Amino acid sequence: MPLHSTSKNENQRFVNKQEPSNNLFLEACRRQEVDRTPVWLMRQAGRYLPEYRAIRAKTDFLTLCKTPELAAEVTIQPVDLIGVDAAIIFSDILVVPEAMGMQLIVEEGKGGPRFPSPLRSKSDVDKLSVQHACSSLGYVFDAIRLARKRLNNKVPLIGFAGAPWTIASYMVEGRNPRDFKHIKELLYSSPHDAHTLLEKLSTVVTSYLNAQIEAGAQALQIFDTWGGVLGQDEFEEFSLRYIQRIVSSVKRNGAPVIVFCKNCGHSLEKIANAGADVVGLDWTTDIGKAREMVGSFVALQGNLDPAILFSTPERIEEAVKTVLKKFGTGNGHIFNLGHGILPETPVENVKAFVGSVKKLSAAYHQGR
Ligand code: CP3
Repeated sequence: MPLHSTSKNENQRFVNKQEPSNNLFLEACRRQEVDRTPVWLMRQAGRYLPEYRAIRAKTDFLTLCKTPELAAEVTIQPVDLIGVDAAIIFSDILVVPEAMGMQLIVEEGKGGPRFPSPLRSKSDVDKLSVQHACSSLGYVFDAIRLARKRLNNKVPLIGFAGAPWTIASYMVEGRNPRDFKHIKELLYSSPHDAHTLLEKLSTVVTSYLNAQIEAGAQALQIFDTWGGVLGQDEFEEFSLRYIQRIVSSVKRNGAPVIVFCKNCGHSLEKIANAGADVVGLDWTTDIGKAREMVGSFVALQGNLDPAILFSTPERIEEAVKTVLKKFGTGNGHIFNLGHGILPETPVENVKAFVGSVKKLSAAYHQGR
């Protein structure tokens, strides 16, 4: 079809052959006009899906992460089974410290991933490899290439990494942190060493995200799951500063960057000023108020409490309606949960959630 006879939308698609056929997610990240609100779920490839559990029954978690064919397969499962508007590459934030030289163990039913020799001294930090870390993460880039190929431009593919502060919490605590005793001791007693570790992580995460973009990731998300355990000043000094550094040095090539700092509603404006295109919200922040504060310069992602998915489709629909109403009319919203989906969530309710967002937001956008 000649360019001059196409509509604006067709024209854009014609010009950029790389755009997915369902491009709602990327359009919303850029605060462009959309017909309905796009939706995906953090941790959408995971144990709540019987199809994921079937693969996991035959493969341990790290082997799954390191086998591109399988990682690509579970990445695509929620696109086909749940109807989400974006895929996120199947991996884990903790493969980065493993690539820097730490031993990572994920044992079945033993409280998640752990590092048997956590970082406890300056010499432990000094030993971490920076230069060659990304060369051991080739399986992630292969999985991205394969997932892109299999998605065949159906929906965009998101790449991700942990924020330095969150990754460091695991490296120093050695396991899922509870009281953050060791990492906070490092931060308060040896701030210089804490900064050395965070700087090393920022360098590796930047190269890692750049390589994900090169492999075909069409958006990036930085997960700062533990930003909210810090006081506001410490959050700025030990977490946000490094997120900002990463966001400003990643060669995005047009890919939007989402920054999700859990329990950090207190620093919303600072997060929004860190240079990301999208700010992820957990459910403790009112999305309407967040929009008033920062919605004129960033898009917002979120923010249902994942526990709502254990209720009924009717209750879920009501909760979806509340979030849509709070956000209000206009563009720049990506629907998501306020944190990762929980493992025992009923699949029917996840489908009901995605269905409700699609139905209600389409009506909402038409009625604006
Ligand atoms: O979103 C997605 O679907 C992509 C895959 C993804 C996983 N982990 C797979 C996973 C992503 C984006 C992550 C990020 C991650 N990993 C974070 C940040 C986001 C968050 O949820 O807070 C953190 C803190 C981790 C560390 C981690 N990995 C923990 C604490 C655990 C154990 C808890 C749990 O959920 O089991 C993991 C393991 C993990 N990562 C699983 C999955 C699907 C479960 C492993 C299994 O199959 O048994």
